[in-house]
Amino acid sequence: MYQTTVSFQAPLTPQDYCSEEVLARENQYVFETTWQLVGLVSSINKPGQYLAAEVGRIPVVVRNFEGELSALLNVCAHRHCTLVSAAAGQSEKLKCPYHGWEYGADGRTRKIPAAKNFPNFDRDRFRLKKFSLEQCGDLLFVRIAPEGPSLKEWMGDLFERFEAWTSSAVWRPIAHLNVSAPSNWKVPVEVSLESYHIPEVHPHSFGEDPGESESHHSLSSSSTSFYTSFVGPRLIDRFMRFYEQFLLKIMGAPFLGKYQHHHVFPNLLVSHTDSLTLFQVVRPTGSTTASSNVWQYGRQSLRKNPFSRLTAAMWARVTAWLSHQVLKEDLQIFQHVQRGEQVATDHSLFGRCEERLYAFQKFLTELIRMGERIRTSHDTAGAESHPEHFIDTPISEQK
Ligand code: FES
Ligand SMILES: [Fe+2]
Repeated sequence: MYQTTVSFQAPLTPQDYCSEEVLARENQYVFETTWQLVGLVSSINKPGQYLAAEVGRIPVVVRNFEGELSALLNVCAHRHCTLVSAAAGQSEKLKCPYHGWEYGADGRTRKIPAAKNFPNFDRDRFRLKKFSLEQCGDLLFVRIAPEGPSLKEWMGDLFERFEAWTSSAVWRPIAHLNVSAPSNWKVPVEVSLESYHIPEVHPHSFGEDPGESESHHSLSSSSTSFYTSFVGPRLIDRFMRFYEQFLLKIMGAPFLGKYQHHHVFPNLLVSHTDSLTLFQVVRPTGSTTASSNVWQYGRQSLRKNPFSRLTAAMWARVTAWLSHQVLKEDLQIFQHVQRGEQVATDHSLFGRCEERLYAFQKFLTELIRMGERIRTSHDTAGAESHPEHFIDTPISEQK
């Protein structure tokens, strides 16, 4: 069931999907104050491995320093050269490619070539900024703002679920995709927050919108969720359900037949079934362009015989291919929405089934409003800069 009995005018305007000024505010007050998924712990579990990410406007390198993971500003303290330019890699040292300054896990310099050129060098001043880094299972999150809720506080009870869904005893990463979207970053986020578009955009894959009786929404101040056990009426839907159940039995894995989707504000989207979990982040690369990273986990066989393992590997491939098809179907609609936002003058309308979009937009407007208020009052104190109550009135009570 949906929680609301009314439809809503969208809190955001069409301009919010096109404007450089709005993007600047989002970067500063949204992406740089919240936890951002930057990659997988398992991708940097060897000493020297690293990954690079943009968090808001800030380039960050997350590196394994002899077993210690550290998130540092990816800009050299000497003359500001980017330290690592590949999205991921491995190097013996964190060393600047310009003059060779080396850095440690604490962001302080280690070796400086011809160091006598810098008499009375201040190691505390000329160091890399270090950012908050937290893990949820295999997922690595960075927060640029020095203060704010812990990752666990931010995610609430989703934290333990995501931890379980990336546990290497049961799940393993099977695919990573990076996709560019010709739209504002909010368009890909919003398309995943409702099933209303399924009959038009996914007629052959998903087929049908589960509808209100088969949909359960939950809405909180930092996330929203969708749950369903719906199986479409088509023969293929019933066959796939039966087939999945059969394969999971071979793998010794449980079958519950439920689908859940979570949106942790502002830009983490998580889909989960008995067979797979998809973690997706969407970030802006401009006011009208976005980049999306998708990490898919497939269920491991709990039975150790070769046939069960082979079944798990094959099924993981099939589910990765199916997820990719669905993502492609969504991708083709983004440019059309963006084109419309460029010329639209009125707010969008959200139906009851689109209440998760309303909660998201309320979160964004509140966070930006609070950021602006703090900036204008010249209060840069950390704890206060992170609001705890984004939805001032529970959505079910909104008129
Ligand atoms: S800019 Fe990095 S060492 Fe000179
Ligand atoms: Fe979709």
